[in-house]
Amino acid sequence: MSEFKIAVMKGDGIGPEIVNEGLKVLDEIALKFNHKFNYEEVFVGGCAIDKFDTPLPESEVDKILNSDALFFGSVGGPKWDNLPQEKKPETGLLGIRKALGAFANLRPAKVFDELIDASSLKPEVIRGIDILVVRELTGGIYFGQPKGIFKENDILKGVNTMVYYENEIKRIAKLAFEIAMTRDKKLTSVDKANVLDVSQLWRDIVNDTAKDYPEVEYNHILVDNAAMQLVRNPKQFDVIVAGNIFGDILSDEASMLTGSIGMLASASIGGKVGMFEPIHGSAPDIAGVGIANPIAQIESAAMMLKYGLNLEEEARTIENAVDLVLKMGYRTPDIMSEGTRRVNTTQMGDLVAKAVGDV
Ligand code: IPM
Ligand code: MG
Repeated sequence: MSEFKIAVMKGDGIGPEIVNEGLKVLDEIALKFNHKFNYEEVFVGGCAIDKFDTPLPESEVDKILNSDALFFGSVGGPKWDNLPQEKKPETGLLGIRKALGAFANLRPAKVFDELIDASSLKPEVIRGIDILVVRELTGGIYFGQPKGIFKENDILKGVNTMVYYENEIKRIAKLAFEIAMTRDKKLTSVDKANVLDVSQLWRDIVNDTAKDYPEVEYNHILVDNAAMQLVRNPKQFDVIVAGNIFGDILSDEASMLTGSIGMLASASIGGKVGMFEPIHGSAPDIAGVGIANPIAQIESAAMMLKYGLNLEEEARTIENAVDLVLKMGYRTPDIMSEGTRRVNTTQMGDLVAKAVGDV
């Protein structure tokens, strides 16, 4: 038996509802594989603002740093939108990524065969898509200095700065090549080297890193072209590595190729403790009515088992359980199509939890 300590951050909007379904599935995994998961609830984002008057209380960071993994719901909502930048829920999210040192954000965009009609793209364009976006998460324009709104000659000036140090580029490039080696050995690096100096450095370091991975076929692509190619011919991509903001934008685009942002999980790794959360946000408009799709959160639990706790078979079991439930025709409203059976959030969680025992 192995025992793990998991920090659980349910968060705002639909966060609590879907995290509960994720925990249900994790409990079933613990039972099946004879593990013990000890959960400790923590607060980041809007719920932390309400409770502690700050989006990232130090007490919570400490608890998270003393865990084996952070299972994360979602943050944000209209209630906190008008707070100053440093008090917003999103600042808590960026802060915890930074505090963990989780510099690599893995965002898989995989098409579920059963949901192929949910995409706005033609089936032949998307069938079989299996892309992994590796997004740099703790650097770039999100964190570069100077930043802020300043007055210059009586005129307001908004400033953010895109900064990358060579070691930051090196470590994400290395990780992306390593991951490519475990997949189809194809890597595309995204930048804007025709305009940005920081991107030229990015490109140079990726070239340098590639020397250690002669088996990986890699190329560079400008970010605007990448956005275009992702909808034109997404199957050309296997692993995509990009800086923080380019990865943010492209991972949303890649996720929608699959038709359903409510299905996709992410892992933020490379630091002391890994963080595992859905790609989607807190969806305050549908919170509390039981229609949210918990699958992205459940798939985040699978990523946590794989990347955070090194439990590969257990992770695969969750993925297979989700596949089975979809094959049986069960759908939350966001992924409904003709001939399928509508279920609510908790029913979907129950079904996947039960399927864990069956696969
Ligand atoms: C994401 C989100 C966040 C980001 C926001 C909520 C701060 O868009 O995780 O992709 O920009 O990183
Ligand atoms: Mg985003």
